[in-house]
Order: sequence, then C-alpha cells, then structure tokens
Amino acid sequence: MNYMLKDENAIYYECGYSCDNALYLRLGADAFFITDGRYTIDAKENVVGAAVVIDGDLYGKAAKILKKHQVKKIVFDPKEWSVAGFDKIRQKVKTTFKPVLDFSHKKRIVKSEEELKIVAKAAKLGAKAFKQLAKEFRKNGFGKDEYTLTHMAKGILGDFGKYELSFEPIVAINKNAAKPHATPTSTILEKNDLLLVDAGLKYKRYCSDRTRTVQADKYFMFDMHQSYKRKKIQKAYDVVLKAHDNAIAKACSGMKAKKVDALTRDIVEKAGYGKYYVHSTGHGVGLDIHEMPYISKKSDTIIEDGMVYTIEPGIYIPNAFGIRIEDMVAMVDGKAKVL
Ligand code: GLY
Ligand code: MN
Repeated sequence: MNYMLKDENAIYYECGYSCDNALYLRLGADAFFITDGRYTIDAKENVVGAAVVIDGDLYGKAAKILKKHQVKKIVFDPKEWSVAGFDKIRQKVKTTFKPVLDFSHKKRIVKSEEELKIVAKAAKLGAKAFKQLAKEFRKNGFGKDEYTLTHMAKGILGDFGKYELSFEPIVAINKNAAKPHATPTSTILEKNDLLLVDAGLKYKRYCSDRTRTVQADKYFMFDMHQSYKRKKIQKAYDVVLKAHDNAIAKACSGMKAKKVDALTRDIVEKAGYGKYYVHSTGHGVGLDIHEMPYISKKSDTIIEDGMVYTIEPGIYIPNAFGIRIEDMVAMVDGKAKVL
C-alpha cells in the first residue's frame, strides 16, 4: 500500500520521530522521511524504518520520489494537508491521489500493549498532578483570577517543564464553567465557588485528559464526591456523576459508540437536563488529544478491546454554572477500565 502523511503525530506513529517540517511517504515496502537540513542530525538519529531524505523543498522532493517509483496511486488524508502543499505535489506527477479521511486515526484506533502502558502512565501522572493542583489552589489559589489559576495549573501539570500539556488547561469558576471550553476571565476564586478544571499532560507524546468540578472550600480535593452548598448545583452534579458512572459500568466491547453515548445521555435527559448537555460523551485519546473513537450520538464505530477514550458527560446552565466529570478508560477484556 502507498500513502503519504503530513501530520506530525501521524508521522511519529510510523517512524518514531517527527518535526515541524517533514513529510512521510510509504511506497509498498519502502518509506521516506523527507525534511530540511535543520533536522538532519535528529532525524538520522531517531527515524526508524524509513530513509531520511534532506531537501529544502519537501513537496518537490516528494513529487520526484513518486515519479522515480512510478507510483500509480497513493492514499492521503485531506485533513492533514494544506491545499497549497498538496497542489505542489499533484501538479508535478501523474499519480492518482486517493483521499481517505482519518487514515492515520483509523490505524491508531486500537492501541498496542506498549501504547496502553504509556497512555495509562500519562493518565496516572495526570491524576497525580490534579492532587498537587488541589493542594496548590487550597494554599495559594483563593483571591487569584482565572488567568493566574490557569498559569498555576500549567506549571503543575507540566511539572515545571518536565511534561508537555495535552492542551491549554481549562480553569473556570461559577458561570464561566457553563462554557464547556471556557477561556480565562478576571473572575476571582472565592471560598465555596464552583471550580471546574479540565487538563492533561503528555507522557512519551501520549495525552492524558481529566475533568473535575468541585466546591472550592478550605479542604477541597479534586475527587468525585462533592457536597455543594447550593442544592441546584448538587442536583445537577449528582446527575452528571450518575451518567459518568453508568457509562463506565456498562460500556462493553462489541457495543456501538452511540450506545455508549446513550449510557450517559439517557440519564441526563431523563433528569430533565437534556438541552444542557451540549456535547458528546467522549473521544478517543492517544497521540492526539481528540482522536477515534468518537463517543457521540451519531457514531457507528464498534467499541473494541484496546480502544482508549474519555467519558465526560456535562450539564451547562448558561449564566449560572457548568459541571463536567471526565475520566479516561481503556477497553480491557470487554470492559471499560478507568485509567
Ligand atoms: N478536555 C478537553 C476536551 O476534551 O475537549
Ligand atoms: Mn476530553
């Protein structure tokens, strides 16, 4: 099979190395990692199973290699390529380019034993960082605004430079938490505020992802058992927790992803909060923070052992508050195991 890749994580998955200016060609048994002279040493030291080709014109070089190998047909994922880059190759060759959406994500949907170990370690480190973060917020977080709290979260999640982050952490207080992907505001954390934190780190390039919503009292921890002073919040929180626990208990291999989605959604809808659950149940996690399988209402993907994804139901009441509880699971022996 012939395929060409442009996305960094897709390339890393094939050959154990990537950089921000590279292109990967797989032509039957041959593979080529094309990059420019800035990465010669690194690429030669780290690329596995592909010839390292150095050329300032990646696209021109790729076209030359396709011509030389008389490649008739090659697969690519249109999501990975800029129109300009793709055209530069296409205009120079007679090859047929076959678009396959999510080509690399489909290859990566079931994790290997080695990947499962790495992603489990990422999740473990993520959980540990949340513990640290609660300690830090209890001590130094009150009186600080969301910008500063986000900055503190970045330091602790990344262990001050040891780990990259899976994404920009979300730290949202009270009504800002009603935006599922809130950006920071000047809202200051005060005692007993609702505090939502969604954050993750990367271990060996694999992502973790976790969300907790807590009442930020003097002794708070980012655990799941929360007692809110406000009854309205407690009621919604208990529904989200029930939905989260239900999906984790009942998800099994062989089930369609949309059935897993229903395991959270039915509970939220039955409790009367359906219109406030504005996103899907979860998403696959791996080299990318969002990858297959998508746990959504529409997904016909069959869940299999070795898949890793999040369960993250939420209820978002505009201008009031938002709640989300998120964990990562791996499918093991037919069941969802929390990482
Ligand atoms: N944790 C961020 C997201 O899943 O979108
Ligand atoms: Mn997530």
